[in-house]
Amino acid sequence: MVEEDKVLIYSGASLMQVKEDLKSLVDFQKEGKSIENLKLMIEEKLLPHLMNYNNPGFLSMFNDFPEKGAKFGAEIALEYNQGVTDWHVSPGGAMLEELCIKALCTLFGLDSNSDGTFMYSGTYANQEALYLALHWKAEQEGFDLAKEGLQGFDNLERLTVLSSVDAHFSLKHAVRMLGLGERTLLTLEVDDNRRIDVNQMRKTIDALQDEHDIFCVVVTTGTTSTGSIDPVCPIYNISRSIKAWMHVDGAYGLAYSLIPEYKENFSGIELADSVSWDPHKQFGAPIPNSVLFVRRKEDFNRMALRSDYLYREGEITPSPGLKSPPSTRPFSALSIVTSIQYQGISKIVERLSSPLLAVRTLYEKLSTDSEVELCHKPDTGILCFRIKSKFISADQMNQFQKQIYKRTNSEGKHSISFTKLGEKVVLRIVAISPTTAETLMKTISYVKDIAKSIGNRGESS
Ligand SMILES: Cc1ncc(COP(=O)(O)O)c(C=O)c1O
Repeated sequence: MVEEDKVLIYSGASLMQVKEDLKSLVDFQKEGKSIENLKLMIEEKLLPHLMNYNNPGFLSMFNDFPEKGAKFGAEIALEYNQGVTDWHVSPGGAMLEELCIKALCTLFGLDSNSDGTFMYSGTYANQEALYLALHWKAEQEGFDLAKEGLQGFDNLERLTVLSSVDAHFSLKHAVRMLGLGERTLLTLEVDDNRRIDVNQMRKTIDALQDEHDIFCVVVTTGTTSTGSIDPVCPIYNISRSIKAWMHVDGAYGLAYSLIPEYKENFSGIELADSVSWDPHKQFGAPIPNSVLFVRRKEDFNRMALRSDYLYREGEITPSPGLKSPPSTRPFSALSIVTSIQYQGISKIVERLSSPLLAVRTLYEKLSTDSEVELCHKPDTGILCFRIKSKFISADQMNQFQKQIYKRTNSEGKHSISFTKLGEKVVLRIVAISPTTAETLMKTISYVKDIAKSIGNRGESS
């Protein structure tokens, strides 16, 4: 058997090499190929260029191979190719989706009147959340957004969404797609741990109040860059005081609320008007698999579009397709059901806790390391840091980090990422699957060796 860390994360081939290899796959011919030949072709041309997310050195993104129980369910969903539109398209699929959503609401401690819908991605979940918030705002103003559109608003230019400066860019997509434009989205400052600074938030709102109508506040429980958890309860209180909808973007972080020691950090999510979650991140569900929860199930009535052939008026059978736009939709619930049944909650908690513990231990180890500048205290499984070198001046530091990133990833043994926190370019590791601090330390040591070789040669000037 091949040792896991002897398998490269990917071939390391260049853009041109990958393109060249893949060309034959789209050279469509009049006659078909046997499955055996197709298999050989895929193995030779494609597989070397796919990412091995299960390599312990893969620490750059939120991806993982599917969890075993989830994979089992996904294979059945694929075999039967169920379109979980409504009861008439798949009685078992539609009913299981409804039951699974209810069970997930309970699992996450959401309100007994809450509901949810499976989506293709966290991006679409966030977009629907903002649409629901806007619809709700229109109702306060006495009109139906679905019928009247944006011109129903008297002061469209005042409409504002607030989120952390570190919130995911899908919110920009959301305001663009809703026709509100990016000018609608204003950002809130963060504290030293990259969580929304609540005192600063109050001041920002006071300053904005005369010219802006804040209809939605987005809290991120697990930001993309640093995994920071915004303080949900204090932000909920502020949102209520200004009568704004509160959406929790838990695409990455929500799963960690299942860990008893972490639950407190998520306290208040049950009060949110909507919450998004991506089981296709560390929960091990096959892509695509996202969920949007709402606190009041009636809120989904704003999404419902009935027709003469589907979702007919008066039908009491389950219709998942009434709660979000796609009509034909994947049987996403099945892989969640089989994954939770296979592992049991205790194993899930163990699996989710492992990378968090590893990152916390790594943070403690590195806090006494003079070659490393830590950029925040980790709330979840992400750590951003910079490598220091006596050969590198302050104004070369950003370039230095980028070079370290590039060289680290070039050999296919370790994969880290980089991002910007304010003006600083920082290196970032994300631990998604079970791991240990020792394993993470191997990547850090590799990164430090590379940094030394760059620094000593003065390459970053
Ligand atoms: C906090 C957060 N929200 C939303 C998204 C978007 O999710 P998706 O990639 O499923 O569209 C991401 C993706 O990383 C994220 O980290």
